[in-house]
Amino acid sequence: MKVAVFSTHPFDRRFFDAANAASGDAQSFTYLEARLDMQSAPLAAGHQAICAFVNDRLDRPTLEILAGQGVRLLALRSAGFNHVDLQAAAELGLAVARVPAYSPDAIAEHTVAMILTLNRKIHKAYNRVREGNFALDGLLGFDLRGRTVGVVGTGKIGLNVARIMRGFDCTVIAHDPYPDEAGLSAIGGAYVDWPDLLDRSDIISLHCPLTPGTRHLIDAAAIARMKPDVMLINTSRGGVVDTRALIDGLKNGRIGYVGLDVYEEEEGLFFSDLSDQPIRDDVFARLLTFPNVLITGHQAFFTREALTGIAETTIANIAAFETDGAPLYPVTAQGG
Ligand code: NAI
Repeated sequence: MKVAVFSTHPFDRRFFDAANAASGDAQSFTYLEARLDMQSAPLAAGHQAICAFVNDRLDRPTLEILAGQGVRLLALRSAGFNHVDLQAAAELGLAVARVPAYSPDAIAEHTVAMILTLNRKIHKAYNRVREGNFALDGLLGFDLRGRTVGVVGTGKIGLNVARIMRGFDCTVIAHDPYPDEAGLSAIGGAYVDWPDLLDRSDIISLHCPLTPGTRHLIDAAAIARMKPDVMLINTSRGGVVDTRALIDGLKNGRIGYVGLDVYEEEEGLFFSDLSDQPIRDDVFARLLTFPNVLITGHQAFFTREALTGIAETTIANIAAFETDGAPLYPVTAQGG
């Protein structure tokens, strides 16, 4: 099948080519650097499928152009599908596929890397030592042992974070409207209700999808309930946190540490080298001014194992659609 791959970076190409070669070069990929939106959608002409990443825009006008050109499959190379108008896709007869699980370890391990970096201030220590500054003032951390970690969403990633943090002898509490009692209790964690999680956690880590119900789950009211000096980590989706409320919480000192791998307005910002340009997003620029904020540009998934899994599952989705008329992991208007 001819597949137009949008938002391609050199690493995508490397892992897709390797996985395609391993399956007998069954698919024909056209690698495009352009981010998918209604302006770039005509580039998909002559392809039966497109492959999109998290910051591609799959809204109704874009999908109408794709469908009008004979595209029949939208193969997302991500787990999240909040960037797709699923209703429009269904009406236009476009099948949608995703990669539900590639390496939950990759995201969980990055989450823990952020917790350790923020706590022990490794990012500051690295720069100081390179400049010959061996002073310890300002680098004081805390022992993780005995601290309470609140995990929001105990799916594949959240449970992995819970397991790793139990390894540090932390108390793990969690909240999820669809609890996995057996999974969490096997790790030694316990479910609590939402206000309880906010009240008790020293570290709060977000692992729920972005849905209308979770948009701005972390808002001013939630932040006001948190323990003073709380650490908040978001490696899920930017929209789960109200960034302006977060900035207020940092300014008034309630929030002690913030680790973000995702940002509400990351589309058009992350995944590009903008180092020769001014940052035009004032809210993001304000976040960067806080010494206790650590931001990575949506890189939690970025391991060899995860990229291999993403490429292999995407190719399996396309192959299944070709032979059976439906991808292996479909997303419907009701969700994944
Ligand atoms: P999953 O589907 O296995 O688990 C998500 C869990 O969140 C489910 O158990 C669900 O019941 C729960 N949930 C839904 N609404 C909730 C709410 N209001 N409060 C608490 N929990 C709620 O998903 P998985 O694989 O664990 O991924 C979680 C999220 O991580 C994805 O949706 C995606 O947005 C994000 N992600 C980020 C990546 C990165 O590179 N930063 C890479 C991959 C995923």
